[in-house]
Amino acid sequence: MLFDTHAHLDDKRFDQDRDELIRGLPDRGVFRVICPGIDVESSQRCIELSEEYDIVYAGVGIHPHEASSAGEDYLESLRSMAAHKKVVAIGEIGLDYYYDFSPRDDQKRVFTEQIGLASEVGLPIIVHNRESHKDVLDILRSNKELLVGGVMHCYSGSWDMAKLFLDLGLYISLGGPVTFKNAKRPIEIAENIPLDRLLIETDSPYLTPVPHRGKRNDPGLVGLVAEKIAMIRGISVEEVRRVTSENAVSLFRAET
Ligand code: NI
Repeated sequence: MLFDTHAHLDDKRFDQDRDELIRGLPDRGVFRVICPGIDVESSQRCIELSEEYDIVYAGVGIHPHEASSAGEDYLESLRSMAAHKKVVAIGEIGLDYYYDFSPRDDQKRVFTEQIGLASEVGLPIIVHNRESHKDVLDILRSNKELLVGGVMHCYSGSWDMAKLFLDLGLYISLGGPVTFKNAKRPIEIAENIPLDRLLIETDSPYLTPVPHRGKRNDPGLVGLVAEKIAMIRGISVEEVRRVTSENAVSLFRAET
């Protein structure tokens, strides 16, 4: 069975068929999905989905895109939401210097504050990192003592850089890009990463794997990510499914 560690099930692109889609996931081999929040409202919607569906768990957090619009009391809101029994992570949080939708100082402040919150409530972090590897690494390193584990989600950096995140005790998650024809770095990660530090995800509704590119992504397609990783490593897809699910259950303690 498959564990999709990152799917934005609250996204409006699922409004038409969300209930049917989520109810159909076990038949497509998916037994757990984490819905990470991108702001306070989205985090609340993820919690509501986790209450409605056994297989859904929630992350609560402020995405770097939303860093400058997070209200002054956002930490208060996240803190009270984090006490919910189906909240298994603070995320998604991090830095995004590709889009730069929020000023970098705001991104860094909100990222750092949420690492502190994760430490306080004892939850792992889900880290978004785009074109910001150095600053993400610097911030994580200077807060190393605070980390309660975490994952570099949809990791897009080099293997050399990945080793530095592994040194911090973090997991690396691969998604649809490992199936893309022009994939280089994700393939390098899939080849080299110790299996006990690997997670898989879809980042639905984005980053749809081959051969469905151009269509909406959904957690039922996470098996294609597992298949591609199995092919790259020359191991069975059953092993990739089993190991990545065990890793995710252990990191997020999302067992029951
Ligand atoms: Ni995401």
